[in-house]
Amino acid sequence: MTILSTHLENQNTDPSLTALIQSITVCCADIADLLKHGPMNDILGMAGAENVQGEDQKKLDVISNDMLKEALANTGLVKAIASEEEEHCVPSDPDGKFLVLFDPLDGSSNIDINSLVGTIFSIYAAPEKETIEDTDFLIAGRKQLAAGYVLYGPSVILTLTTGHGTHMYMLDQNSNAFLLFVDGVQIPRETKEFAINAANQRHWAEPMQLYISDLLKGETGPRQKNFNMRWVAAMVGDVHRILCRGGLFTYPWDKKDPDKAGKLRLMYEANPMALLTEQAGGAAFTDELPILDIDPEHIHQRVPVILGSSEEVNICVNYHR
Ligand code: F6P
Ligand code: MN
Repeated sequence: MTILSTHLENQNTDPSLTALIQSITVCCADIADLLKHGPMNDILGMAGAENVQGEDQKKLDVISNDMLKEALANTGLVKAIASEEEEHCVPSDPDGKFLVLFDPLDGSSNIDINSLVGTIFSIYAAPEKETIEDTDFLIAGRKQLAAGYVLYGPSVILTLTTGHGTHMYMLDQNSNAFLLFVDGVQIPRETKEFAINAANQRHWAEPMQLYISDLLKGETGPRQKNFNMRWVAAMVGDVHRILCRGGLFTYPWDKKDPDKAGKLRLMYEANPMALLTEQAGGAAFTDELPILDIDPEHIHQRVPVILGSSEEVNICVNYHR
């Protein structure tokens, strides 16, 4: 079986990018180990603080954020990091070649119920300047050098792209190495499955209301087929399912809070997932343009997300035109 570093070498990946990705995955294997022993280690429950998004931090959000920060600082390859759990970017090594953004523990409301969570990351080339500020991270998703997530489920799975397709690796508990098991993920173009938090229905914009109600009409409606619905409540879990068997995932704009353009964050949720999706033959849009073409305005910016099977994403986006 091919191990991660060999697979990256075969793709002619810059050796320092390979080393950086390796360090992230080693840290994620440690996070996986921590999660496995969750209730024993007194690491479940609340940390007693809020993050910059006004969301309550869980202990494990804070612990995994600190673990990743430290692991990345030790590489000497990273100029600065930005994280869901940090209000501003954190400078690291002045000579570092890379900027890394991450959501240390996506879907953290799933922690206490022993359900799917994951780490999402995004890597860019660092600009050649000494002091890095938040604005230096505002680079369109298309320019990501690499993007991926590690899913902590029944198996620990790394899904990664460096712009040469999307690939899946499984953590082998014996060797502690990530082994390639899907070389070139392909998302089916068509689907009969969708994912949305339907409890927000009354807050959605009109086009999304119409699109979902047409899906629900099934065989006798305009779509002339029956749809199934799934909602993991962790983006990392829903996107993983879509990479495995297709589907449409959306967290749309809603009018619950007019100051927020959606729930998901562009820089460390939407962008990395959009690159993984596009590299697997799928599509990833806001309600008007490809996510990867957005000119970012803020490191914690929120965007509407519609991603997955390309034909279904097109149909959904067309309701908005
Ligand atoms: O990070 C935000 C997030 O937890 C996503 O992982 C997930 O898709 C979504 O929020 C769940 O939202 P809700 O709580 O509305 O189901
Ligand atoms: Mn998240």
